[in-house]
Amino acid sequence: MRRALALAARAGRRAWPNPKVGCVLVKNGRIVGEGWHRRAGGPHAEALALRMAGAGARGATAYVSLEPCRAHPGKRTPPCADTLAAAGVARVVAAMRDPNPKVAGRGLGLLRRAGVRTETGLLRRQAQALNGPFLLRMREKRPWIILKSALSLDGRAFANGGASRWITGPRARRLAHRLRAGCDAVLVGIGTVLADDPSLTAHGAGPNPLPVVLDARLRLPRGARLLRGPRKPLIFSAKAGRLAGAEVARAPARGGLLNLRAVLCELSRRGVGTLLVEGGPTVHASFLSAGLADELYAFLSPKLLAAARDPNAAPRLSRPRLSRLGPDFLFCGKLRF
Ligand SMILES: NC(=O)c1ccc[n+]([C@@H]2O[C@H](COP(=O)([O-])OP(=O)(O)OC[C@H]3O[C@@H](n4cnc5c(N)ncnc54)[C@H](OP(=O)(O)O)[C@@H]3O)[C@@H](O)[C@H]2O)c1
Repeated sequence: MRRALALAARAGRRAWPNPKVGCVLVKNGRIVGEGWHRRAGGPHAEALALRMAGAGARGATAYVSLEPCRAHPGKRTPPCADTLAAAGVARVVAAMRDPNPKVAGRGLGLLRRAGVRTETGLLRRQAQALNGPFLLRMREKRPWIILKSALSLDGRAFANGGASRWITGPRARRLAHRLRAGCDAVLVGIGTVLADDPSLTAHGAGPNPLPVVLDARLRLPRGARLLRGPRKPLIFSAKAGRLAGAEVARAPARGGLLNLRAVLCELSRRGVGTLLVEGGPTVHASFLSAGLADELYAFLSPKLLAAARDPNAAPRLSRPRLSRLGPDFLFCGKLRF
């Protein structure tokens, strides 16, 4: 199963919107076939493993990182549960059930009815971790959410003049750009667009994510840099309206704030599997208070933003020392204004 999980992980993001799946066929203690789902629309892991094993599949045990699929309308590839049974596989060990309501245990049921022994749960936690975004899409109809923030040592997200560029240095920014390139969409609030006029691109670190803005009152300026970027931004608003260079999607609002569940459901429907939420603080607070976050990247800069109008001119802790005190971190050093 460990081998099946390692194979599944090779697919990276290419399998999306499908799950990452690996399969290993074992007979008499030897691997006779293996495969992984390389890309959406391509052959499934089980089919590739069976192709490799040929007649050797008869009587073998299949270790799969996810329950084999069964026939359902809209499926593009032959159902794996049937193919495994037809190849004479004797036993199927699945790390977890497929949360897709169209499968949900029925792939394993089909195998059992065909006389194949089945087991589930081996390395389940690892299998679930591998397919976090897929599980969320199926169970909650929302993307995997990564919150990213850059804070100064005095706990500020922007300097006195309102700008947050640049709190962190070039290396942290390069990592932030790689984070963007690894996500399908990047979301900010209208407050951030008005203060920083960001481009929200990956700056050459990889593919550009879809830029998304929460803008209940449609205040996005016509001259915003986002509107001239490589990808057409998606603006969520409570008002109907048009904006040249952008797509405006309606979302319900309450107390002036857009309903995040509705926004996330729409993003998931559009194929967004991982979403990077870059802020600002109002947006972060909304996501956190709704419990809508799966991962956090908090960049901490040695600057003191309360002491400056511009982040670039902010004083910093000289030679900061960082220590870990149980669950806490301590930064200390001398200040130079
Ligand atoms: N350090 C960092 O990591 C970082 C990152 C980003 C930004 N910033 C800084 O943060 C500041 C902007 O932050 P901010 O808190 O004022 O604004 P923000 O979080 O960027 O945007 C908040 C605005 O988004 C709209 N909105 C719509 N639905 C929402 C929802 N469900 N939850 C939250 N907001 C929703 C609201 O305006 P409407 O009612 O008009 O729609 C709200 O006022 C800027 O100074 C920027 O430089 C810092």
